[in-house]
Formats: sequence, structure tokens, C-alpha cells
Amino acid sequence: MMKDAWEWLDFEEVGSTNDEVLKYMEKGKKVVLTAVCQSKGRGRRGRHWVSQNGNLFMSMAMPLELKDSGAMVFLLSLALCESIKKLKATAKVELKWPNDVLLDNKKVSGILLERSGEFIVMGVGVNIVDFPKSSDVLYPLTSLSQAGIETQRVQLLEIYLKEFDELFALWQKHGQSAIISKWLKCAKGIGSNIRVNMPSSSICGVFTGLDEEGVLLLQTSEGMKKVSAGDVFFEEE
Ligand code: BTN
Repeated sequence: MMKDAWEWLDFEEVGSTNDEVLKYMEKGKKVVLTAVCQSKGRGRRGRHWVSQNGNLFMSMAMPLELKDSGAMVFLLSLALCESIKKLKATAKVELKWPNDVLLDNKKVSGILLERSGEFIVMGVGVNIVDFPKSSDVLYPLTSLSQAGIETQRVQLLEIYLKEFDELFALWQKHGQSAIISKWLKCAKGIGSNIRVNMPSSSICGVFTGLDEEGVLLLQTSEGMKKVSAGDVFFEEE
């Protein structure tokens, strides 16, 4: 095996790939774990992630410091954005802060970072063939096949890991700012009005960019505001 290669484990069924990968983490190893079926997919803020067969459920565990998780959030979504463009150069794929990938203005994936000891577990779910049709979703959803992109989970995984490794090398060489400036080039809504919903309040303003830490910058009637967590909605929505 190549020195820095991924160790890939694939399972028929697991609860959550983010939990399962913890059992296989080892010092100095890059482990990626996938499953055909995921019965207890977790989303951000305790939400459930509906995991339909044929979609990709993957988790990567790497020994990283807590301060690096910010860069990883942007790196993971950027890697998926680039992967989708590899499959279809004309795909309308954009990034929504902090970690969503939009395809034709709808959410096509979910990313969940969790910490365990000296490891960061990075979970990525991609709607390849299907997406939940329920109306009580926070944001409209889609799948790659809905946008006419045909692929399978293993093919997508291979493309994704290659993109991830390239961006990871860029991050190691040039730091978080290099990742953030690439992320901003693919971001939806820069210069337009957005609303950010936080657990007990919401704030509107013009999305002007991100600071060097990846915090969202919002030009409001009361001046520039910094937002470090929340759900973004665009003006026309
Ligand atoms: C979100 O709320 O948008 C994040 C969803 C993350 C889902 C992925 S699927 C693979 C990994 N395993 C999980 O249980 N969750 C993540």
C-alpha cells in the first residue's frame, strides 16, 4: 500500500458510519469507512439523516487538532463540489456556508464533523440516487441523479478521496486561507441578501464573505456583523 494511502473499509449495514469508524482508528492511519445501508444516520444539531440505499455514506478519521476542524469543514464541502464538477463539468454546484453543497440550488449532501480523542471524524453523506421527499426538511433536497449525473457510491468515493487529498495537500502547504479563498469562489450568494437563523434569533444582511477563521461576514443596517454558527437562507427563498 502507498505510504499515505487511505485504508478503506466497506460494510453492508451500520448504525452510523461516524460511530463505526471509531473502532478502526489507529495512529498514523487514514481510515475511510463506507456502508451500503446506514440505519441511524446523524445530521447536524441532533437531526436525523435519512439514508436511502444507493446513496453514499462515508466517514473518515484522521488525527488532527481541534483548531483544524474549521478548515476541514470547508475542505470537505469543496472536495465534493470539485468531485461533482469532475462528473459533470456544467453542473450548477455551489457552496452554502458553513458546510452544504448545493446542486441546482438544492442540498445534495450533508457533512458532520465530530471529535474523538485526538481524531476528527468527518462524515459525508451524498444523495446519489434518491433524497427524502418529506416536506418538513429545513432546506430543499436533491440527488445527483435528479440533476442527470449518473455515478455509483464506489466511483464517487474514489473521485472524492482524490479531490480531498489534493485539497488537504494545499491546506498543509498554504493553510486555511488557501482553502477559504477557493471555497469563496464556489460560494452562493456573495454580495446578496441572506438570512441566518440561529437557535433563538435570526439576522439579515448582505453576505460579504468570510474572515480568515471562516466566520461569516454580514453587512447589516447596524454595521458589519460576524456570525460563527447558523443556518443560511438566500433572499429568493
Ligand atoms: C447534515 O445535517 O447536513 C449532516 C448530515 C451528515 C450525514 C453523514 S452520512 C455519513 C455520516 N454518518 C452519519 O451518521 N452522518 C454522516
